[in-house]
Amino acid sequence: MRTPIIAGNWKMNKTAVEAVAFAGAIRDDLNQIAGVDIVFCPPFIAIPGVAEAVQGSKIGVGAQNMYFAESGAFTGEIAPDMLTPFCQYVILGHSERRAYFGETDDGVNKKIKAALAHNIMPIVCVGESLTQNEAGETQSFVSGQVQAAFDGLTADQAAQCIIAYEPIWAIGTGKSATVEQAGGIIKTAVRDAIAASFGEGTAQKLRIQYGGSVKPHNIADYMSHPDIDGALVGGASLKPAFVELVKNAV
Ligand code: 13P
Repeated sequence: MRTPIIAGNWKMNKTAVEAVAFAGAIRDDLNQIAGVDIVFCPPFIAIPGVAEAVQGSKIGVGAQNMYFAESGAFTGEIAPDMLTPFCQYVILGHSERRAYFGETDDGVNKKIKAALAHNIMPIVCVGESLTQNEAGETQSFVSGQVQAAFDGLTADQAAQCIIAYEPIWAIGTGKSATVEQAGGIIKTAVRDAIAASFGEGTAQKLRIQYGGSVKPHNIADYMSHPDIDGALVGGASLKPAFVELVKNAV
């Protein structure tokens, strides 16, 4: 069985001081919730402090991005080895990185390989825009993103990844996808794409999250779908009620 995983993507919110205080304030409550993996993804500068704040708990730490090179002249970037002392996870290919910072499918593919080579579990984001959704292109676009991201991986590597299906129109809008919409795309465009490339066994191992306006009141509905293994949570992961959200997930 796949262990559900709820990750909080704090995006560009909270100073290092605020992030550490928040992590410390909710860690013990979260630590008591069995049957679910929990991850905080703070801004880079808060990562060491948050890692220390959750030490000795079940809570994992993830980065929101990472470059694929080992080191060198890449101003403003972060290398895998800089994350490994603190992070078990890294979010790659978030739609905001694709939209505002020129992230490409090819770059995401390179980053996934680099993360896996350093034993960092990638949370690979895919998802269509409203225009694509209304044009009926969701299925082909999302499965294409999955194929491009996982190109050249072995089945074992693919099984270690987490995919987050985040329809762009549902992010930060309060307009969440229905369980049928989210679960349907996760099954037919994401899990089936993995099955086509790596076999059904691998597809059944890989965890797939839904993301987009996930809140304490709707998480249980998403989790009731057999193909949804958790959530990548933005806004609702910034507040103490994140504890309720995680409780309601199990
Ligand atoms: P919201 O939960 O704020 O819609 O953000 C979702 C998201 O982008 C998580 O990565």
